[in-house]
Amino acid sequence: MIKLFINGYGNIGRRLATACSQDDEIELIGIAKYNNDEKVKEAAQKGYNIFIPENLISNFQKNKINFAGTINDAVTQSDIVIDASKEGLGFKNKTEFYLPLQKKAIFQGGEERHGEYSVANIIHNSRVNYDKVKGLDYVIQGSCNVSGMGRIMQPLIESFGNQIKRYDVILIRRWADLEDTKEVKDSIEWDKQPHHQDDVKDFIPTANLFVDAYKVPSRMMHIHQMSIRFEGKAPTKDKIIEIFQNEFGVSILNSANGTADVRKKALELGFVHGDTNMVHIHNEVTRSQDDVLKIIYSDDQTGMVIPENHLLLQSMLLSRPRNDALKRVDKIFNISKKKKVLEEEFD
Ligand SMILES: NC(=O)c1ccc[n+]([C@@H]2O[C@H](COP(=O)([O-])OP(=O)(O)OC[C@H]3O[C@@H](n4cnc5c(N)ncnc54)[C@H](OP(=O)(O)O)[C@@H]3O)[C@@H](O)[C@H]2O)c1
Repeated sequence: MIKLFINGYGNIGRRLATACSQDDEIELIGIAKYNNDEKVKEAAQKGYNIFIPENLISNFQKNKINFAGTINDAVTQSDIVIDASKEGLGFKNKTEFYLPLQKKAIFQGGEERHGEYSVANIIHNSRVNYDKVKGLDYVIQGSCNVSGMGRIMQPLIESFGNQIKRYDVILIRRWADLEDTKEVKDSIEWDKQPHHQDDVKDFIPTANLFVDAYKVPSRMMHIHQMSIRFEGKAPTKDKIIEIFQNEFGVSILNSANGTADVRKKALELGFVHGDTNMVHIHNEVTRSQDDVLKIIYSDDQTGMVIPENHLLLQSMLLSRPRNDALKRVDKIFNISKKKKVLEEEFD
């Protein structure tokens, strides 16, 4: 049994807890809460052990809220921690707990890969470098957009290699997640230095990639418009659809009009947390013209990285062959079934 602690219980931590608590190979030691808010009740109702920082002990005791111990206790009991903390706190957690207690840890895409606050030397993308993270102690799971880009670029590289001259990605990002309480501002904002470009180059160093990112007032997923320039004529759309139709975690949708159609369908179909856990290529707006192929796909921001974290865990801790790890993830997240259903719904 893998003893796992999930440090953080926000959008990502909650989803990780749902999935990992259903895995009979994992003993979920518990989750961490840093604020005594309504999510504490939710975690308790779900039967998770709640671990808290030392400075919250008297607050929890005063309010007669049960907790299982401190963050330090939870890390001590675990084989590995998935750090799902608020962006930028991973480094502090690593130096305070994981390193002194000699525990492996997975960090999320909001953490630093380079410089003084770097938490790991590698960013994982299960489609590209699953084998390279086998047995490692500290790894960053690429963010949702970075995971999505790798999932689209790697099959293209395998089919067309040096014929690809460059990739230009326009990334349109949601302002907030569905569960976030923060205000969605009426503005379109640009990102002066999108991290996605360097992050993707971390696992596909040869990619001639340019990324521009804009944040728009929506809670419903991300859209990527990826323009791929070829040496000579670009492949036909039919060829591209053929390449992606059997890709794990990539669906091809014909009749969605926007990201909300996909998210609302996922909720209506009862997908856990409303997640599809995949990218969706929008066939109707994908085009090939002269030397440019334009692929438009939506990326399930909250759901994408949850199976990715699970695959990373299997690689770091069990060194399991990738195909076996994918089978296990498919059993837990029903990704192949969800893909089939979505493709039928948006035929
Ligand atoms: N949201 C997405 O779609 C998405 C997608 C891919 C990757 N990510 C990345 O995943 C990470 C988490 O994002 P999120 O959206 O889940 O954030 P979030 O909803 O804001 O949740 C952050 C969590 O961190 C907890 N926390 C506070 N201090 C902490 C500490 N020192 N150590 C550990 N946890 C601490 C908070 O506790 P309380 O609940 O008690 O306040 C909260 O549960 C970020 O790096 C983000 O970039 C997010």
